[in-house]
This record gives sequence, structure tokens and C-alpha cells, in this order.
Amino acid sequence: MSFARVPLLLALLHAVTAEQPSAPSPIAAPLRELPWGQLNFLHTTDTHGWHGGHLQEAQYSADWGDYISFAHHLHKRADDDGSDLLVVDTGDRVEGNGLYDASNPKGKYDLDIVKQQSIDVLTVGNHELYQRNTSDREFNKVVPDFKNSYIASNLDIYNPKNGERTPMAQRFRKFTTKNQGIRVIAFGFIFNFQGNANNTVVQPVEEAIKEQWFKDAIDDKEVDLFLVAGHVPVRDSPEFDAVYKAIRDSNWDTPIVFFGGHTHIRDYRKFEKKAWALESGRYMETLGFLSISGLGTGKKDEVEAAASPDYKRLYIDNNLYSLYHHSGKNASTFDTELGKNVTKAIHEARKKLKLDHAYGCAPHDYWLSRTPYPSDDSILTWLENQVIPDTFNFTKIPSIILTNSGAIRFDIFKGPFTIDSTFLVSPFTSGLRTIKDVPYSAASKVLQLLNNEGQILLPDLAAVSQTDRVDLDQLRAPFAPVNEDTFFHAHTSHAHDLALEHHQTFLGRKKDGDKDKDDTPQVPGYTTKDDAGTDGDDTIHQPIKFYQVPNCISSNVSFPAPEYAAAYGPVNFRPVHISTPEKVDIIYNEFIENWILLALEYLGEKREKKDTSAVLEGKSMTDVISDWIKKSPDWACPKEKDV
Ligand SMILES: *[C@@H]1O[C@H](CO)[C@@H](O)[C@H](O)[C@H]1NC(C)=O
Ligand SMILES: *[C@@H]1O[C@H](CO)[C@@H](O)[C@H](O)[C@H]1NC(C)=O
Ligand SMILES: *[C@@H]1O[C@H](CO)[C@@H](O)[C@H](O)[C@H]1NC(C)=O
Ligand SMILES: *[C@@H]1O[C@H](CO)[C@@H](O)[C@H](O)[C@H]1NC(C)=O
Ligand SMILES: *[C@@H]1O[C@H](CO)[C@@H](O)[C@H](O)[C@H]1NC(C)=O
Ligand SMILES: *[C@@H]1O[C@H](CO)[C@@H](O)[C@H](O)[C@H]1NC(C)=O
Repeated sequence: MSFARVPLLLALLHAVTAEQPSAPSPIAAPLRELPWGQLNFLHTTDTHGWHGGHLQEAQYSADWGDYISFAHHLHKRADDDGSDLLVVDTGDRVEGNGLYDASNPKGKYDLDIVKQQSIDVLTVGNHELYQRNTSDREFNKVVPDFKNSYIASNLDIYNPKNGERTPMAQRFRKFTTKNQGIRVIAFGFIFNFQGNANNTVVQPVEEAIKEQWFKDAIDDKEVDLFLVAGHVPVRDSPEFDAVYKAIRDSNWDTPIVFFGGHTHIRDYRKFEKKAWALESGRYMETLGFLSISGLGTGKKDEVEAAASPDYKRLYIDNNLYSLYHHSGKNASTFDTELGKNVTKAIHEARKKLKLDHAYGCAPHDYWLSRTPYPSDDSILTWLENQVIPDTFNFTKIPSIILTNSGAIRFDIFKGPFTIDSTFLVSPFTSGLRTIKDVPYSAASKVLQLLNNEGQILLPDLAAVSQTDRVDLDQLRAPFAPVNEDTFFHAHTSHAHDLALEHHQTFLGRKKDGDKDKDDTPQVPGYTTKDDAGTDGDDTIHQPIKFYQVPNCISSNVSFPAPEYAAAYGPVNFRPVHISTPEKVDIIYNEFIENWILLALEYLGEKREKKDTSAVLEGKSMTDVISDWIKKSPDWACPKEKDV
């Protein structure tokens, strides 16, 4: 028996057939209905390789094969009632999950899995562009895989064959929908990204829309809908604002729909009554659905387009309970042959990559931002008090070890910590480095500066990063972008349910628009507020409380004459060092090197890149974490008979 199944304590549905074999079964929950219309869309974004679904979170446990079956049924529905369905993806398909990252080359299996979905409009994301070999392969393989649908409105590549600069893909596409004959012009943008490898060129959106091809496209009067897809946030979005304005300047009345991404949230923004924008979350947690009714069509003798078409949206939790419901299917009628094949291909790839191999077993859940920092179930506290001190206890030299919370990307769930988990929790590869002999008086203030807590504020961190190989938002762990009421992903462990009961009381929230007032939601998850209100999530969730975490954390090791005191908590003692060394080594992960150097300069201790060197043979924080887990007796997996 494998360890990969997490015990579920909530009411389970009947056993299901598709999805990954180790995926937990979805949980029955009250659902809102799919607002089907004349023209319908399914949208994914920022899937980051999670095409096998979430194997430790029932709420998001359907896989890409299930998504293919789901789209098939909605296509059938459209054909039956004469409406239409389009499928959109807005990039960052790569990096962030073992299914993509664990193979050599990366994506060896995953790209052939993704290409099985039939997609009508597809764009690039920044993660497709960090590494030259990733974008070359995008050009050589993925663009041909999606020959008609890949759009690159503001992206060029130096052709790997002849070095000539050429558009990554077509700049836009014009097509007519199958059943309604709706004439669509579609664009595909990426935000004004600068961190790409030098074999691609991202043209600022504001420049791209001055080009003749774009002017001609938006001047077209034989069009019923402009579809602007992009790896661009839908809110606070100079890029989409510019596109919107340009379209309206030449086509004042034609409906527009935007599909965005990058910020990993569910969001729906109203530009005006004929222009709305949908963003569909991250990591295959969300299948975004949008419908528009009342569009004009190219067909002669059709009724006039409605004065104001009706836009509706639904954020579908990616699990079989939701997918069965919205497609009107059940366990015996849902799977299509292709969907099943893809599910099987994912399973086989995961087996080849040994993603279920466990390094150890987490004794309880550790949260990144769903628990306060510091606390006993905070990943950051665990790193700071256990993993880092244990890893560096060999050093005789007093050292301060700094790491950014953004190096951690995901929670750790009670149970097996697998090869897969390492890619989810900390997919970043930057190595550990050191600056030696820094006066303690300066070194001890670096953390404060990195966390913007001192008198001095560092200048815009973005301006400092020269490496640009990684997202700036990796400096800090992702946090709730809107307000305290913005929550993210669900989980179903018992400990967590108890915690949620507390939060539920604490927040005292009653959800709006429920059919049944006594129908208390059981499943923790997104409770999205957007420009259309609070009824966007298909599953009526229990809200999840979310806490701010610092940019960076630090540990002291090998300090002289340590005296320990219990600063908090009965379990985790935070060592507080009374005596201080004169000089220390600073150790950090390379990603934050520029900020460390800048902080030291501010503190009157200027150092250069040449003054830094690798430690632990350049191991990454990910290596440190998995090495620690392998060795830690507290994290030994229970004997199989106990599971
Ligand atoms: C790109 O190169 C890196 C480093 O050699 C390698 O790990 C990765 O698999 C390559 N990626 C692709 C898409 O070939
Ligand atoms: C692009 O970067 C590579 C190293 O990554 C370098 O060798 C090459 O000279 C650069 N090309 C240009 C045009 O800057
Ligand atoms: C699924 O639906 C079909 C057709 O509606 C029905 O015949 C069958 O009994 C259902 N199967 C299950 C397992 O509910
Ligand atoms: C599914 O896989 C089987 C076996 O490899 C193959 O014969 C069949 O053509 C595939 N079906 C589809 C729809 O891809
Ligand atoms: C360092 O920590 C590990 C794990 O706690 C322990 O096994 C080892 O003995 C410690 N080494 C030193 C030198 O303290
Ligand atoms: C490290 O030591 C300094 C004082 O020397 C102290 O202010 C700080 O709290 C210590 N950090 C930790 C994580 O114990």
C-alpha cells in the first residue's frame, strides 16, 4: 500500500474512476449553477505543471484528463443547443510541479499531456521565457502543437535555427464560432516583462498597440467580439487598460472580453457594461467559466445584438464532484476515451519520475500563511528554528542565515513528503551563498531592512534585481492581495477543520446568495469578492483566514555562550542569544543576494559580488529541506501496517 492517500474525515462521495489513482475523492458541497449562455468559455491560467491535479487536496483533485472530458461534454452541450464554447489558456503552464520539473529535459512528459486539450486561444507566460531552452522549445514544439490558437501579440524570438528575430506566433487571430457564427478577433499579450532570457523580446504592450497590424485589427467592423487573452493581471493593469482604450478609440461599441493571469487569484473586473475581464486563479485549482449572451453574429437575418450583452462568470473548483455536476454526468458517464488516456499518461509519467517516493512524513500540517508567524505550525518557524539551525550546526563561525519567505511556495500537509512535494513547496533552484566577516552591528540589522521595518527603507526592490531570472514576487511568500476576506486554497485535514471552525466564528461571516440559509458550507476554500459580487465560486466555501508573513526570516547559529529562553509556545523554543559575536558570516540564498548587498551598503558595510562565495556546495533551500526531512526522526513515516 502506498502512503499517498491522505485520510479524509469528511463525507466522501462514492469511489470515482478517473483522476489520479492516489487523488482523494471529492467532497459533496453545495454548488452554484453554471451560467450557460450564447458564447461560453473555459479558462485556465498559471497551471505551473499541476496537470495531475492536487493529490493532497480533495477540492482540486481532478487532472488534465478530467478537464478534457469536461470540455468535451460542454462542447456537446453547445452543439446540442446551438451555442458555442471556446477554451482559453493564458500561460505559465511550466515550472512549479514535479510533473513538469522532475523530468530531464523538463516538461518531457507534461507538454504532450497539455497538448491533448483542444484550446482555441493560448498565450505565453513569463515562466515560459526565463530560460532560453524553455522558450526555444516553446517555439519549436508548443507553437506547432497549438498552431491555430497560439497568439503572441507582443513577443518575438530569435529563431534558434537562423538567429533571425521573428514573432513567436501569429499576432492575432480572427475566427468565427462554430454554431452561432460569432466573429471573434483574439489577441494574446504578455505583461511588460523584462526578466526573460535574451533570446526573446517582449515588446511593451503600449508599443505593440501602435503597430499597424493592431490598428488594422481593431478597425475591423466585421467583428462581434474582441477577445483579449494575456498573461496580464486583470486589475491594476496598465497593459489591459491600454488595450481597452485603444479598442474603444476605434471601435466604441463592440463587446470585449479579457482573460488574464499572473497574480494567481480569482478575479472578475468590470471595465464597462460591454467589457469584462476574468482571471482564473492558479495551479489547476480553478477552471474559470464565463458566458456572454446577446452578442451579434455574422449571420445575415439574425436579430440585432442586444444593447447590452449579459456577461456571467463562475470559478469552478477543479474536482470531479463539480465537474460531474456542471456537465450533468456521473462516474459511469463522465470519462471520455481521450480523457482517460490522458489521465493514464499522467499516472505513468508520475511513476517514471517516482514523484510519490517519500523522503519522510510530516507529523502535522505546516502552513505558509494560513497560520500566524511565528507559531508551531508555521513553515517559516519550522525552517528558522529547526531546519536551518540543524543544517548549519557544523559551522564553528557565528553565522546569521537569512532566507526569503518567497522561497517557500506551498503548504506542507500531514503525511508523506514526496519528491513531488519538494517541487511544490520549494521549486526554486538558487544556491546558498555566504559573505564572511561582517561586523555584527551591521549584520544584525540586515533582516530589519529586508523586512522594511527599520528607519531606513530600501529603494524599490524591483530596481535592484539584476539577475531577473526569477519573479520578484518570489521575494515574499504570496499573500492575500485584496483584503482579509480574500482566502485561498482548501484543504481537508481534521486539524484544519478545527482551525476553520474557529476562524468561521471569528469572522462571523454569512455567505450571500445561498439558496438554503441553513446550508452551512463544509469545504474550506475561496470566498471570492469581485466586481460582480460574492457569488462567483461554484462551491459555497467556508472562508479561510490568511496571515501576513515577513519578506525574510533569519536564524543565528554558533553564537557564543548561548542562553536559551522560551519566547513563546510550549513546543518550539526560540533561542534568544544574550551575548553577541563581534563578526559573523551571513548566509543566504542567492535569490536575495542583491538585496543583502544593498542592505549592507546602507549599513556602511559595502561588499561586492566577488566578496561572496557558495556554501554547502551551492545546495538550494529545497535540498536543505529534503536532506533535513530524510534525517529527522520526527519525520519518519509510520510503518505501513499503521497507515
Ligand atoms: C534547460 O536547461 C536546464 C539546465 O541544463 C535543464 O535542467 C532543463 O531541463 C532544460 N530545459 C529544457 C526545456 O530543455
Ligand atoms: C545572451 O546571453 C548569453 C548568455 O546567457 C550571452 O552569451 C550572449 O552574448 C547574449 N546575447 C546578447 C545578444 O546579448
Ligand atoms: C449515471 O447516469 C446514467 C444515465 O443517466 C444512469 O443510467 C446511471 O445509472 C448513472 N450511474 C451512476 C453510477 O449513478
Ligand atoms: C487511447 O489510447 C489507446 C491505447 O493507446 C489508443 O488506441 C486510442 O486511440 C486512444 N484514444 C484516443 C481518443 O486518443
Ligand atoms: C547538528 O544537528 C543534527 C540534527 O539535529 C544532529 O544530529 C547533529 O549531532 C548536530 N551536530 C552538531 C555538531 O551539533
Ligand atoms: C539572533 O540574535 C539577535 C541578537 O544577537 C537577536 O536580536 C535575534 O532575535 C536572534 N534571532 C533569533 C531568530 O533568535
